[in-house]
Amino acid sequence: MSRRIPEEVIETVRSSVNIVDIVGQYVQLRKSGKNYFGLCPFHEEKTPSFSVTEEKQIFHCFSCHRGGNVFKFIMEIENMSFPDAVIRVAEIGNVQLAQEFTQSLSNDNVSESSETTKLKAMYNDAAHLFNHILVNTSMGEQALKYLHARGLDDGMIEEFNLGYAPTKELLEAFFKEKGLDHQLLRKSGLFVELQDGSLKERFRDRVLFPIRDPRGETIAFSGRLLLKNEKKPKYLNSPETAIFNKRKVLFNFDKAKSKIRQEKSAILFEGFMDVLAAYRAGVKNGLASMGTSLTNEQVYLLERITDHLDICYDGDDPGQHATARALSLLEPLTKMELGVVHIPEKMDPDEYVKKYGGEKFDQLAQSSHETVVAFYMRYYEQDRNLSNEADQLAYLADVLQQLAKVQSPVERDIYLNQLAKRFGIEKVNLESQLQAYVNKSKQDTNQQNKQNEVLRKDRIVKSKNDQRHLDRVEKAERLLLYRLLHDHSVWLKLREIKDFSFVHDMYQTIYIIAEGYFNAYNEYDTARFLDYLEDEALRQILIELALGAYAKDASEEEVDDCIDLIMHQSPLENKIKDIKKQLSDAKRMNNNDLVTSLTVNLVNLLRQQQVEKSTSL
Ligand code: GTP
Ligand code: MN
Repeated sequence: MSRRIPEEVIETVRSSVNIVDIVGQYVQLRKSGKNYFGLCPFHEEKTPSFSVTEEKQIFHCFSCHRGGNVFKFIMEIENMSFPDAVIRVAEIGNVQLAQEFTQSLSNDNVSESSETTKLKAMYNDAAHLFNHILVNTSMGEQALKYLHARGLDDGMIEEFNLGYAPTKELLEAFFKEKGLDHQLLRKSGLFVELQDGSLKERFRDRVLFPIRDPRGETIAFSGRLLLKNEKKPKYLNSPETAIFNKRKVLFNFDKAKSKIRQEKSAILFEGFMDVLAAYRAGVKNGLASMGTSLTNEQVYLLERITDHLDICYDGDDPGQHATARALSLLEPLTKMELGVVHIPEKMDPDEYVKKYGGEKFDQLAQSSHETVVAFYMRYYEQDRNLSNEADQLAYLADVLQQLAKVQSPVERDIYLNQLAKRFGIEKVNLESQLQAYVNKSKQDTNQQNKQNEVLRKDRIVKSKNDQRHLDRVEKAERLLLYRLLHDHSVWLKLREIKDFSFVHDMYQTIYIIAEGYFNAYNEYDTARFLDYLEDEALRQILIELALGAYAKDASEEEVDDCIDLIMHQSPLENKIKDIKKQLSDAKRMNNNDLVTSLTVNLVNLLRQQQVEKSTSL
């Protein structure tokens, strides 16, 4: 929770928006009964397990178990801190916040370290300065001509805030004027530090492409030479800084993400210029990495918003090799379906747009996807003469190995038919060779799969509650917790029972936190209470309770039964609790013998509990 945004403001925002509208901006929701359903934006899925409950103002995914209120949703989907999420929700929901309040938050928000904030402001200022130099000054004339010649009009230059860093030193004076100190300038990465400690501007005589984070804030530059120069790299990137990690960045992700969600597909290009050319041609779901192959982090970013990725690298031989390499790296890493958009005549996307126009490129991107196998069938033909038998055999071996990775029998069949027809080979023979590769790759993939699970670093917290059957006591605990939250008379009743406590720590913790909540509010509200719980597991319990099918009203008797069961009829649990308490006392007093014997006791009881649980199912 934010210590900075006043509670009333959070409350105003929460109560002025409807979570259905906010989530609806990111997920296609369909109403069914009281709830809304859709495909979960946080993981891959084919059937909807994501739900939004309007009445309770919460969301929940039955499959990956993410859930929470409207702020939590924005925090997750936009990768934001809590205060930023509140402001974003206010923006989306058209809730007016006092201006000085939102400003003071972004200027001196301590939760986002002030250094990060300052660095972002520096990059923002620098980007505007360089853009101004490009567009409005004589220093930028050459660069502007260059960009125009490359097909980028003023609209595109504005939209991407392209700039030009002149040969003249500007930035140091500019920032010192603003009162920024030397250390910050050093850390910004906008300068190169010389041996004597003085600073020299990093980007000189280069066209600058601002690199933005998913929220659209500039966090780095990539600068391109205007003229070929053997002694200098064509592109020069900002170094890693507190705000820039190139493993996590995808060029144009911020602008492309909503389009990608909409079209359910993304296109990966090799270069920035290609992304811009595609954008100009109306293909706005394009991205590029910073000249390296995709990292885990970038894949994760994409997987959250799409299940299809097309690779559109240069059509020349190096581009095709790079495509094959990218596919082989991505296949084990992602659940996204992969494809290839092939640019004919060995051109790169930028050249293609220039030669044939945006419309043709748009058509190409829309309609000429290759499947991975189709790509390899073309790719393995390179440098081979297929009228030569040896080349033919090598080609078939290569293609069949790729085909062995395909799961769909229908897809396999299509390609087997094509190959049989093309080379005049009996299909059964191709099939048996394919089978040999399948068996071999099965062995390989079993091993691979294990590694990939680790690689994928799926942050999805799999709930143990899923498979776990609750015993009588725990059922009673949940019901009672539900009642005490929703019915204040139950709350008051429990407060009267001095030695009451829940058996399980998690419920007890929620109970304790609820006290703080009821000190501030009279009414219970799930969405609001969720902000009091920082622990994911606790939030999940609360969501499960909110979505549980509990009868609306509690009878006195039901509540008493629960209390009785929790307090008295759970000898085993009570013993365990008791021993745990003794154990922590013993530890505190450094009584090692006692610790040992209590631990043995505890282990036995826990084992007993396991047995009871497994037999009570
Ligand atoms: P143009 O040559 O202007 O059409 O740019 P491009 O984006 O098409 O570049 P190219 O296809 O040569 O390279 C693809 C990507 O690789 C670029 O967008 C850069 O991200 C990266 N890259 C290319 N050259 C360099 C370099 O010299 N240094 C670094 N760090 N990255 C480079
Ligand atoms: Mn290019």
